[in-house]
Amino acid sequence: QFKPRAFSGIQPSGGLTLGNYLGALKRFAQTQNAGTHETIFCMVDLHAITARLLSPDELRNNTRELCAGFIASGVDPEKSILINQSQVPEHAQLAWIFNCVARMGWMGRMTQWKDKSGKDAEGASLGLFAYPALMAADILIYHATHVPVGDDQKQHLELTRDIAAKFNHDYGVDFFPITEPVIEGAATRVMNLQDGTKKMSKSDPVDKTRINMTDDADAIAKKIRKAKTDPDPLPDAVDGLAERPDARNLVNIYAALADLDPQAVLDEHAGAMFGHFKVALADLAVAKLSPISSEMSRLMDDPAEIDRILGRGAERAREITVPILEQTYDIVGM
Ligand code: ADP
Ligand code: NA
Repeated sequence: QFKPRAFSGIQPSGGLTLGNYLGALKRFAQTQNAGTHETIFCMVDLHAITARLLSPDELRNNTRELCAGFIASGVDPEKSILINQSQVPEHAQLAWIFNCVARMGWMGRMTQWKDKSGKDAEGASLGLFAYPALMAADILIYHATHVPVGDDQKQHLELTRDIAAKFNHDYGVDFFPITEPVIEGAATRVMNLQDGTKKMSKSDPVDKTRINMTDDADAIAKKIRKAKTDPDPLPDAVDGLAERPDARNLVNIYAALADLDPQAVLDEHAGAMFGHFKVALADLAVAKLSPISSEMSRLMDDPAEIDRILGRGAERAREITVPILEQTYDIVGM
């Protein structure tokens, strides 16, 4: 293996938000372009059915649209391996081994499991509970060491490390690497536009809480104009945002879109009222997102081409995953 590998994924559960763009897609393209890693990016369709079963047409369409979102955001299927999870069966095969390595207690402590299963853990799918073991397999079937994600995935990545360490220990091998989460930049956690204490999520039922990557310029401007803020002007230093989550979120979004530090944004806008700052933010968001959404819709006009790209990605991925699964089975005695 020539370069260390980076892996990350997004669920084709429908739609993409500004949070997915800034916390994931934009950084995937940067990782790819840095050239320091072999990059593998994945639509995780097996994960997308853990919360609820989608109709077959919906899932297929979501997967294609997500693939278009990756490419439009700068992930190049020639430079990176771009795949759909179910087309590389070694992910699910390794996940079974990891289901037998991970402990019920570990999984039960995952905050995402607690949040998503809510008050009805008995009625949640077994797949939702086992989700982090499949995620560990997604990463470790490539022996990936570098995983760019948003802040919400931190706990799952710690579990990935625990699974790798327990497997290595139980079998007396040094086979799976201990993965490094890469959670960096101004927008590792883009917040809900109506409540700066909650994460912006594509599964949030209320549309005005999130900016969708396919929103048009008017919708983006309107959502930013109506975003919750406070009556104070922008402070001169980031400390002044500590107790102002809604204000801080808009400054962080601006910073991440403009590739600046939050402090540099304040150097430019200190003293401005939010009415004014929001206009600048909306212009910036439209300038960055519109070319991506038009490229997405152009790519969606040719679904056969998207399927071809994913088919080719799966072939390339399996050159890596088939030998790693074989070695794993050999270690286990299979
Ligand atoms: P969602 O939570 O929107 O359904 P996924 O679970 O598919 O998205 O996550 C895909 C990637 O996007 C992950 O790396 C996740 O950390 C990142 N991500 C999701 N929401 C946000 C957000 N609000 N801010 C930053 N990153 C995010
Ligand atoms: Na998530």
